[in-house]
Amino acid sequence: MNSRREFLRQISGAALAAATAPFMLTWALPQGQAVPFPGEDGMILRSFRFVDLESPVEYFNTWLTPVPHFFVRNHMHEPIELDASGWRLSLGGEVEKPLTLSLAELSKLETHSVVNTLECAGNGRSLHRPQVPGIQWGKGAVGTARFSGPRLREVLERAGVKATGKHIMFRGLDEVPAKVPPFIRSIPIEKALDADTLIATHMNGSPLTKHHGFPARALVPGWIGAASCKWLTEIKVLDAEFVGNFMSPGYRLPNQPVKPGDVVKPEDTHAVTALSVKSVISGPIDGSGLKTGKVTVHGAAWAGEADIVKVEISTDGGMTWNHAKLGRDQAHYAWRLWSYDWKPAKGGDYSIQSRATDSQGRVQPATPAWNPSGYLYNAVDQVNVHVS
Ligand code: MTE
Repeated sequence: MNSRREFLRQISGAALAAATAPFMLTWALPQGQAVPFPGEDGMILRSFRFVDLESPVEYFNTWLTPVPHFFVRNHMHEPIELDASGWRLSLGGEVEKPLTLSLAELSKLETHSVVNTLECAGNGRSLHRPQVPGIQWGKGAVGTARFSGPRLREVLERAGVKATGKHIMFRGLDEVPAKVPPFIRSIPIEKALDADTLIATHMNGSPLTKHHGFPARALVPGWIGAASCKWLTEIKVLDAEFVGNFMSPGYRLPNQPVKPGDVVKPEDTHAVTALSVKSVISGPIDGSGLKTGKVTVHGAAWAGEADIVKVEISTDGGMTWNHAKLGRDQAHYAWRLWSYDWKPAKGGDYSIQSRATDSQGRVQPATPAWNPSGYLYNAVDQVNVHVS
């Protein structure tokens, strides 16, 4: 099997090279550069092995992010063989009747749609001070899409979860390189049984693309992207949280504030789950030159499982704040677009800041809690502009 996979990998590598000759230059490009990537329009390359693509913030101007503009985060190789007719989803562990579903069987179940803002826990990592290792995401490892598919709970109920079932483990079809721990994680049963937690097969009305988990992925709304396992092939009901690299030490935060260099014991950490409150300015772009007159400052704000209640804008370095107008489109787990009409009185250098507040009373901080993995960066956003 392994040698066949290796063979397929070489074949697919050669086919990719032939099909994308103009793109081969991208291998030599430094991280962080906007590149033409097959099918993914104008995205910022953060890693080629494995493919990680970030959206430029100026793409955050539509409530639903078009799929070619949606960030991509892979911990390992995407699956080489993805044959929808041969794909199966198995469900076992602490259940009465283990079961296996084909894509056709899954598609017969009632479909539910959830508009969700999916954000990588490491989004904004490059902005933490002091800097931390890991993919140096800027502000664009986030996007919003309408995900559709059956509810996870319907499939769990068919199998009959035993009283001992406490966590639901997901495994995808990633090609796992030798010596790399597989991307396997679990979520608590309460979140798995939530009516909005899905086995998504569609994104913005079309079947998932390969980058986003074709033919099916978990969709755990309001939680960090890592909870939403792509290329889903196995669900296992466990009596405790899954033990593995991507549950611990991966995706954990210290229970108490820490400083660089502090030793944090595993028992003093918790798994990262729901997203923080956050806003980003998508225009004007940092470093823009503007003319006096009306300037529309705009962007997006989200808060995981909470709702955005207000976004405030400051154009005087944080001394005074004014309410931005929240956009019409809204859904429980989705970002709100916002805008603020600003009339700079005179020319000069300005810093524009945005600060969101959510329904849990959380306010975007001036400086977010530093942590060794650089998760959940959510400082008040800022762009600097020159008005002439
Ligand atoms: N699922 C699998 N099987 N393998 C992965 O590497 N990455 C996770 C999650 N699901 C990942 C995965 C992470 S860290 C994130 S942020 C989201 O997928 C990103 O989803 P996207 O690539 O569709 O934007």
